[in-house]
Amino acid sequence: MRATANVNGQISLAAEAKISILDRGFQYGDSIYEVVRTYEGVPFFLDEHFDRLENSARLSKMRLSQSRDFLRTEILRTVKESGVQKGEDVFIRFTISRGEGPLDLDPAVVSKTSYVILVKELPPWNKNFYSDGMTLAIPSVLRNSPLALDPNIKSGNYLNNILAVAEAKEMGGDDALLLSPDGKLTEASNSNVTFVIDGGLRSPLHESGTATGNLRGITRTLIAALATEADIHYADVPLFPQDLGQATECFVSSATREVMPVKAVLLRDGRKISFPSGGGPIIKRLQQEYTRYVADYVRARKSEAWF
Ligand SMILES: Cc1ncc(COP(=O)(O)O)c(C=O)c1O
Repeated sequence: MRATANVNGQISLAAEAKISILDRGFQYGDSIYEVVRTYEGVPFFLDEHFDRLENSARLSKMRLSQSRDFLRTEILRTVKESGVQKGEDVFIRFTISRGEGPLDLDPAVVSKTSYVILVKELPPWNKNFYSDGMTLAIPSVLRNSPLALDPNIKSGNYLNNILAVAEAKEMGGDDALLLSPDGKLTEASNSNVTFVIDGGLRSPLHESGTATGNLRGITRTLIAALATEADIHYADVPLFPQDLGQATECFVSSATREVMPVKAVLLRDGRKISFPSGGGPIIKRLQQEYTRYVADYVRARKSEAWF
């Protein structure tokens, strides 16, 4: 397959795609996006990603000019143009920018949102992240407060997360585990984090109206449902770095990472909290449940496969 882009209807190789320098997504990060993947050609949770895109638009006061059906058709057209074959799978990122217009922060100066669709191969995650696990480090950079920029706006401005990753890497981590301004655990730079505490799953709570927030991950929501079905208790709760002492397992989740074990968290005071290499029994069980769920999902939608 070829990495392929669609910029407002114009399809080309991704490396040759162009956007206007007056696009607010480029000028201000004034854009929102989603990432979806396919399994055996079937898009996974596409409607749930559209729901979240619409929620990001609402939270950022952006009126979408493109309907869900229009975007679905454009995404499919781009996927087909990529030349992807049966037996492969694709990563799809679709970004909506508030649009092109004069350099003026006032969002009212633009009237039409623009879109960019990128279709490429799935990210080649380091195999050790599954066989052994990732190391997360807690940087001094804090996660945006929902009172300033709600992490539930999945926006094209990731500077907060980028600064956190840069610092986490300097600390010897693979990724960051960000704290909120009020000292609570929030999420990793582009995934949610969950711990096993007292035999149950505990994930940092998004506390509306406070300084603590994280993105409502679609993968984490699925994992919560799978855990509950498997009689593993799940709860979103306020969590602090000192709670890590009680955690026996830790993993991150996202559409492309699925359930990825964490082998260690590096704390700000220099201590290292370690977890079982490759994940403990609960992570292994969740990975099995996840694989089973995906297989059932794909089986039920075989006739809707895109390629
Ligand atoms: C900041 C952040 N948190 C969490 C997630 C995980 O979300 P999902 O499970 O819907 O992929 C992402 C995914 O991109 C993210 O960027």
